[in-house]
Amino acid sequence: MAMTLTSLPTPLEPAPRWARALNLRADRLWIKRDDLTGLGGGDNKTRKLQISVQAALDAGATVLVTTGAPQSNHARLTAAAGARAGLEVVLVLEGEAPEADRGNLLLDRLFGAEVTWSGDRDLSLVQDETADALRERGGRPYVIPFGGSSPETAVAYRDAAREILTQIPSLDHVVVAVGSGGTMAGLVAELGPDRVLGVDCGAVPDALSTVSQMVRAMGEPDPCATLRMDTSLVGAGYGALTEEASEAMRQLARTEGLILDPTYTARAGAGLIKAVREGRISPEDTTVFLHSGGLPGLFGHSEL
Ligand SMILES: Cc1ncc(COP(=O)(O)O)c(C=O)c1O
Repeated sequence: MAMTLTSLPTPLEPAPRWARALNLRADRLWIKRDDLTGLGGGDNKTRKLQISVQAALDAGATVLVTTGAPQSNHARLTAAAGARAGLEVVLVLEGEAPEADRGNLLLDRLFGAEVTWSGDRDLSLVQDETADALRERGGRPYVIPFGGSSPETAVAYRDAAREILTQIPSLDHVVVAVGSGGTMAGLVAELGPDRVLGVDCGAVPDALSTVSQMVRAMGEPDPCATLRMDTSLVGAGYGALTEEASEAMRQLARTEGLILDPTYTARAGAGLIKAVREGRISPEDTTVFLHSGGLPGLFGHSEL
């Protein structure tokens, strides 16, 4: 049974006031609104889930299982996708249950997902045990990899790159947040390594090799030496709000009325600001900032 999770194409909007704040030409900065992909609060994950959830349905699965951080956007959207596809969802989340369900976790519950906490145990081990237990209960689990990224699902971002090219045929840079790597890998597979600037958000130990392996597994030439990846904006770690990310959040909110999330898109915004300051993106270049969503995360970090 075919099932649709996404509302495509997402808009490509001009961002002239943000461009001026960045000292870019006002007509050269665009925002690809992949925060508006349609399902469960939007996000880049929805495009990738379209592929994996369809594969789960085709395989006759009854329950989706995936892993993530407590404020995982991917987990939230897996929960939403399961609801839409009529599948149960079990989320294996890192660490211990917090005192209160906030942000993404609140939405996981709203979408009806079951949550299992890994404690201090290895996340993928707990995921395997969870899938085994579901099988013993007569369920047919379908495991979606961390962050929803695999060479098969990264294809969704090769298609997204084609969608961008129909909206703006000539572009110099796409700036994107990098977590589990599938989004950047798909963009690189279509646009080549020179036109994609990834900003590492600290979700995996080695984002550069994660992305380059995925690009290779998609049948593309090894891009490792030429990938553009800013790994300097992780700060104190994945969950930390950095000064640079706060600056990007304030700048976009106050120039275009748009919201970035503290973990991913704000770091990507900080990567754009830095690339312009350092001359790696120049005022005349045509730049697309991929807004990959993540808004509920803003309400999930009590320290913010
Ligand atoms: C809001 C947001 N943007 C970007 C990313 C990065 O995408 P990917 O995991 O495909 O690298 C993620 C997920 O990790 C995300 O939640």
